[in-house]
Amino acid sequence: MAPVDMDALKSKKVPIIWVLGGPGSGKGTQCERLIQRYGFQHLSSGDLLRDEVASGSAKGKELNEMMKNGVLVPRAVVLDLIKQAMLKNLGSAKGFLIDGYPREVEQGVDFEDQIAPAALVLYFDCSDETMTERLLFRAKSSGRADDNEETIKKRLVTFHQCSEPVIKKYAEKCVSISANTDVDTISKKCFESVDKTLKDLGLPVPSN
Ligand code: AP5
Repeated sequence: MAPVDMDALKSKKVPIIWVLGGPGSGKGTQCERLIQRYGFQHLSSGDLLRDEVASGSAKGKELNEMMKNGVLVPRAVVLDLIKQAMLKNLGSAKGFLIDGYPREVEQGVDFEDQIAPAALVLYFDCSDETMTERLLFRAKSSGRADDNEETIKKRLVTFHQCSEPVIKKYAEKCVSISANTDVDTISKKCFESVDKTLKDLGLPVPSN
């Protein structure tokens, strides 16, 4: 894999927000709300990987097997996809929502070393029961190979083992939001945190 030059992004200094939480905690749903309010670019590691799978490449086939097993794909693969997507969307970016990344401590370290530090970490704290219920409901229409009972169980195990330590490591810049409730209540808490981060960075905050 050829190294990706991230200097253009480093010099632009746009805020980067990591959006974390277990499978079905509402990361994608809340990112939609955040895009509407702030006009940020949204990059979901899961979507980038599914695009690679859909391309039919040999790499995509390997990734699909791992995703169907609910395990993490190799970290160089996902970081490279994120770098490429950030550079592609840099022109108009007011900020980046990085959804579903980092999922293990090493991914966070790689990102901040090779790209830039995250300004804020939003973590959606949700019970396994609620997440499972939401994903099983979504399974009726999503067509996702990993939205089935067996893989959801594995995704939850991977989350608890690999991703919870990320929250501990970045506790200082992490805001934990209870995500067992309705979408609007969660959005309100997200907006409060992002507004504060923008203010702290001396950046404009939406007026409504
Ligand atoms: P990824 O695509 O990131 O999936 P995930 O983390 O398992 O979570 P989802 O995207 O399914 O859920 P979400 O939290 O976004 O919730 P959503 O808003 O959609 O990852 C898939 C796989 O790719 C991984 O298992 C791994 O193999 C691989 N991968 C990804 N990133 C990786 C990385 N960094 N490193 C290595 N491997 C990686 O909501 C879910 C449902 O609930 C929806 O139907 C929604 O309408 C509903 N809902 C949302 N919020 C609420 C609410 N408050 N109340 C009621 N319903 C709600």
